[in-house]
Amino acid sequence: MRRPVVAGNWKMHGTRGWIEQWLRDWLPQLDSRAELIVLPPAGYLGLVRAGLDGHAVVVGAQNVHAEPAGAYTGEISAEMVRDLGAQVVLVGHSERRGHFGETDEIVAAKVVAAHRAGLRPVLCVGESLDERRRGDAEQVVLRQVESVVRLAGWERLDRAMIAYEPVWAIGTGETALPADAQHMHATIRGWLGREAPELARRMPILYGGSVKASNAKALFAEPDVDGGLVGGASLDAREFALICNAV
Ligand code: 13P
Repeated sequence: MRRPVVAGNWKMHGTRGWIEQWLRDWLPQLDSRAELIVLPPAGYLGLVRAGLDGHAVVVGAQNVHAEPAGAYTGEISAEMVRDLGAQVVLVGHSERRGHFGETDEIVAAKVVAAHRAGLRPVLCVGESLDERRRGDAEQVVLRQVESVVRLAGWERLDRAMIAYEPVWAIGTGETALPADAQHMHATIRGWLGREAPELARRMPILYGGSVKASNAKALFAEPDVDGGLVGGASLDAREFALICNAV
């Protein structure tokens, strides 16, 4: 019922020539029934959108400011990335929360901004290693989801996706076991389902954190893992195509 999704978050990587080569390498290898999303740095959204012309691939932004316009030097708004061809935006990535001090309030404001601009937000949540070791993983993740639902409102999440990205698995080579990912995804869906059962059934919940071609199939086979949000491995066009095709 839920169409799987595979998204490649390039983070702060890529230049014009690299992107053109990546697209030439990636596109011919695709054989996937998943919805595919590429998330380049904001300045390259237009280039990537143009390079994907005629292909069923969605382009997304990694971040936006909550305001539509204003005196916010160096920032870009949801309306602007939409204008550049983005249809999706990541909100609350752990690197934004960790390096840029984004609180649940800021994350919720960005969900509201995404909704206002007609973008699908991908709400990123996940616990740290300490939180997992203390046995608090579920509590932390559900608190992140609940805060945003309460502050932004259910209607702003109508077209949203959630990405469960345990912080200890991001860029470390360490991946959650498929059963552990499944457990957390089912916990999130269970929580959503108590107040919004229809939304819970159709909301894609992606797993992120050292997804590779070698572990994608096992992760994606879990019933509540609706695909992946891929960082490092999405920079390698061949590897990323294998992950897309693992659906
Ligand atoms: P890695 O796949 O490099 O672990 O990154 C995951 C991530 O943060 C995707 O948003």
